[in-house]
Amino acid sequence: MEKLKIVPVHIGIIMDGNGRWAEKRNLPRILGHKEGIEAVRRVVKLAVKYGIKYLSLFSFSTENWKRPKEEIEFLFSLMEENLRKEGENLNKNNVRVRFSGRKWQLPKNLYEIMDYVEKLTEKNTGLNLIFAINYGGRAEIIDAFKEIIKKGYKEEDIKEDLIKEFLYLPDIPEPDLIIRTSGEKRISNFLLWQCAYSEFYFSKVLWPDFNEDEFLKALIDYQKRKRKFGSVK
Ligand code: IPE
Ligand code: IPE
Ligand code: MG
Repeated sequence: MEKLKIVPVHIGIIMDGNGRWAEKRNLPRILGHKEGIEAVRRVVKLAVKYGIKYLSLFSFSTENWKRPKEEIEFLFSLMEENLRKEGENLNKNNVRVRFSGRKWQLPKNLYEIMDYVEKLTEKNTGLNLIFAINYGGRAEIIDAFKEIIKKGYKEEDIKEDLIKEFLYLPDIPEPDLIIRTSGEKRISNFLLWQCAYSEFYFSKVLWPDFNEDEFLKALIDYQKRKRKFGSVK
């Protein structure tokens, strides 16, 4: 195995393909989401194992409200159940859990457990695990501008650093690597502001099948990238 010389500080993952995983097996889509949770468990362990400092998981987009009500409800109850089950365990493992998105529009039961786990793990210094739930990159920028206007900033104050300060989690560094599973090659409104200089890795594997091999492939590919940020090497 190739040695990993540089690991990304922050990895974002667009966890896509749960529905197709289920459809391939003639199962209802929701069972794909259920299986997707196992992949979440695996990838959290892998992030710890490979020394990733920040892992952002795109779990529900602002556009996913267009899905059938039953699927949405299933997704939210799955999130709630697993946060209840895993909160203490994540805490014991020094993981700091955070959430990004329009939390206030989520069902109360889910919102409450999110808030609980966030506070419970607040002081932890290990992996920073961010779940993007009811998250949209455009919504985030809109919400930032609303705050900026409320605070009375003027045209001349509008600079990159100011906008950054009003994003949902301003202290988190931008993702170095964004992985999308299931073969789709698009951003689907994930971290629009933050992905300006991210590297992208597209895996054909459906999210429930995502494993250490696939994760390592992405990390190895990342080694070869020459990041220039607009400058010359
Ligand atoms: C990703 O899987 C999970 C969410 C968007 C919540 P999908 O449900 O989008 O799976 P496909 O794309 O239909 O296969
Ligand atoms: C992106 O996947 C959102 C999440 C993974 C939560 P989608 O399946 O919703 O994206 P599109 O609709 O294929 O672009
Ligand atoms: Mg999808």
